[in-house]
Amino acid sequence: MVISDIVSKSADETRKIGKEFAKIVKKGEVVFLEGNLGAGKTEFVRGFVEYHGIKDIKSPSFTVVFEHQSALGFPIYHIDLYRFEGGYIELLERGIIDLFEKRDGIALVEWADRIEGFYMPQYIVKLLHLSERERRIRIEKNF
Ligand SMILES: Nc1ncnc2c1ncn2[C@@H]1O[C@H](COP(=O)(O)OP(=O)(O)OP(=O)(O)O)[C@@H](O)[C@H]1O
Ligand SMILES: [Mg+2]
Repeated sequence: MVISDIVSKSADETRKIGKEFAKIVKKGEVVFLEGNLGAGKTEFVRGFVEYHGIKDIKSPSFTVVFEHQSALGFPIYHIDLYRFEGGYIELLERGIIDLFEKRDGIALVEWADRIEGFYMPQYIVKLLHLSERERRIRIEKNF
């Protein structure tokens, strides 16, 4: 079900949308972020983690999993699958499925397009590059 569908007109607005969205995501939930290079996935994550009192995140290109501590007392896993080319077995072997299933924190997954079908997340955020500064941000919730 689509729970939000808006056009962001700046990186700042995308961060604000991410921060608003963070208010409804609970510990144990998994968020997939999909969209091309430069679509704004990391900006959205920046706003999201800001709600949890986390500043200064890196765009995790080589490191696959970055772990942060939320001010609410649980971990936030920022995962980037840009370079991930495996299938379900590799996802299992890398411990990523475990990380989703142990539900001790929130997982935010960039380039989740790579693993669609291997895991059913609570939310899918789709970012579409419309123009230089416009991004359509559609949030879907799975029930
Ligand atoms: N409305 C907007 N929302 C988000 N970013 C925007 C917007 N307009 C311009 N930008 C710019 O687009 C870029 C988005 O970069 P960002 O790292 O968030 O993308 P990404 O989807 O994470 O890309 P990658 O696949 O490389 O990780 C930034 O340079 C940002 O300033
Ligand atoms: Mg990114």
